[in-house]
Amino acid sequence: MENLFIYENISQCVTMAGVAAKKGRKTVAADLGVIQDAAAVVDAAKNTFVWVGPMSELPSEYDRVVNRSPCEGELWIPELIECHTHLIYAGHRHGDYAQRVAGKSYQEIAAAGGGILSTILPTREMSRAELVEQATQDLERFQKFGVGTIEVKSGYGLTLESEIKILEAARDLAGRGAFTIVPTFMPAHAVPPEFKGRAGDYVEEIIRAWIPEVAKRKLAKFFDVFIETGFFDAEQGRRLCEAAQANGLALKLHSDQFTDIGGTGLAIDLKATSCDHLDFVSKTNISRLGESDTVAVLLPGASLFTGSQYPPARDLIDAGARVALSTDFNPGTSPTRNLPLMTTIACSQMKMTIPEALAGITYNAAAALGLEGHLGSIEPGKQFRVCNLNVSSYEAIPYVFGELGGY
Ligand code: NIG
Ligand code: FE
Repeated sequence: MENLFIYENISQCVTMAGVAAKKGRKTVAADLGVIQDAAAVVDAAKNTFVWVGPMSELPSEYDRVVNRSPCEGELWIPELIECHTHLIYAGHRHGDYAQRVAGKSYQEIAAAGGGILSTILPTREMSRAELVEQATQDLERFQKFGVGTIEVKSGYGLTLESEIKILEAARDLAGRGAFTIVPTFMPAHAVPPEFKGRAGDYVEEIIRAWIPEVAKRKLAKFFDVFIETGFFDAEQGRRLCEAAQANGLALKLHSDQFTDIGGTGLAIDLKATSCDHLDFVSKTNISRLGESDTVAVLLPGASLFTGSQYPPARDLIDAGARVALSTDFNPGTSPTRNLPLMTTIACSQMKMTIPEALAGITYNAAAALGLEGHLGSIEPGKQFRVCNLNVSSYEAIPYVFGELGGY
């Protein structure tokens, strides 16, 4: 009993219990499991929920618990989960944005030396400590918007040494304790200058030496590839992903962001944990995702910022797919740390409902990181990780529209 804490009179507690029960498919309002005037019993030693329900139904066995906190006026929702970012990099890309606004496409800018490659050189030059310092400042902003768990990809180094530096920086961030950091190795983000015109050789080098080294050092949980015209094709993706799986890494893929060249089909075939972007996903793969456990991670910030079409969220959800939302935070296509803003874009532009969008930044985002057993809902056994976004009702989360709380 000494370990127990009771949080009393939580004005609105959005448990996501029904979302979890349905494994994040076809979320309706009732699945949010909203409890007005709720209570939560927490085991502080294990940092897990023991009981959650209406205040009026708090079992009498907890009468003797002395640690009690009043929570009138608070809205609780599971701590937000950011399931797709390129957090660690150096240098900004205002120039790319100016060119895009002037009419150049993402691929044209990349082919002319801008894009991902223009972030590579400053990132290679920056020290691990400086990268950690810069990322810490970004994390503080994510935290203000309710995020406590974040996926972090490498992919702006593209030498073995600099990719390891980025993954070690991610491990340093994890050591600071404020965030759960989920590291992803993404060497096939672009073909680096050393392998210009020799993408095949680069792929072979990653398979031969880089994947085994990163796996041996236990620096990543996931492996990711940018499967896109002008970057890596589906066959190269398959070879890389199979090597990653053989070395114990799970998969997350960038697929169908600008063109469909087979990335999503590959992700489903290989039972990837998620496939991400999907702006140009085919009808066939929409139905296949409906039957698959692979989470469809949609990135409305990247579509908005590049002026590309939005992914077909409605069709995916109606087909039964598990849909998560994320910022895709990166210097080129989505320089935002505002995860709740993604729900606004998803609802207003992609016709998602508010319950679907909130499931997308909690339970389904946890599923996109393989963490749904511990995170993403407020239920007995799950981790005591909640956020209070300073709003009076869950509907105000997308309504706030780019700002912090206050409604
Ligand atoms: O997810 N698509 C590939 N990677 C990033 C963009 C990276 C960049 O432009 O620097 C994305 O949108
Ligand atoms: Fe991305």
